[in-house]
Amino acid sequence: MRERTYAMLKPDGVKMGLFPEVVERFKNVGLEITHTKEMVLNEEILKEHYAHVADKPFFPELEKYMLSGPVIAMIVEGEDAVNRVRELMGPTNCKEALPGTIRGDYGSKDDETCRTYNVIHGSDSLENAEIEVNRFFPELKKNKTLKKAIR
Ligand code: CMP
Repeated sequence: MRERTYAMLKPDGVKMGLFPEVVERFKNVGLEITHTKEMVLNEEILKEHYAHVADKPFFPELEKYMLSGPVIAMIVEGEDAVNRVRELMGPTNCKEALPGTIRGDYGSKDDETCRTYNVIHGSDSLENAEIEVNRFFPELKKNKTLKKAIR
């Protein structure tokens, strides 16, 4: 099924200049990045995005990491996009990610930081993909409403 999902190159990925590499990897499996923007997150959007881990002991470190520089937000479309993006990323813990995955190739290999400094995010379900697309690209929703109002 053709799907759209949300992906986000995190501050370490942006600093390493990985965006062209990510575009290439997505393209090679038939995925298309339809929207992209570089943005600096704030605490409000982070608290919303990471509400499911807000009570975990690693949350302060995660917050520091995600606020340490700009991220690149992406909407990715294609066949089975949610799963394909997650396969390309590899698992959360970079030390468990195989070579050839983005996290396996570029993520932190340090015992302390390998779970947090993991280069890229991808939505974990179609339902969350829609929520995250709307969270990070609210202007698209507004444009839709505007178009409807004009018609
Ligand atoms: P992400 O998949 O974007 O969503 C939750 C983030 O929390 C995850 O990437 C990691 O950056 C971080 N994370 C998840 N589990 C842990 C953990 N056990 N220890 C530290 N950071 C984690």
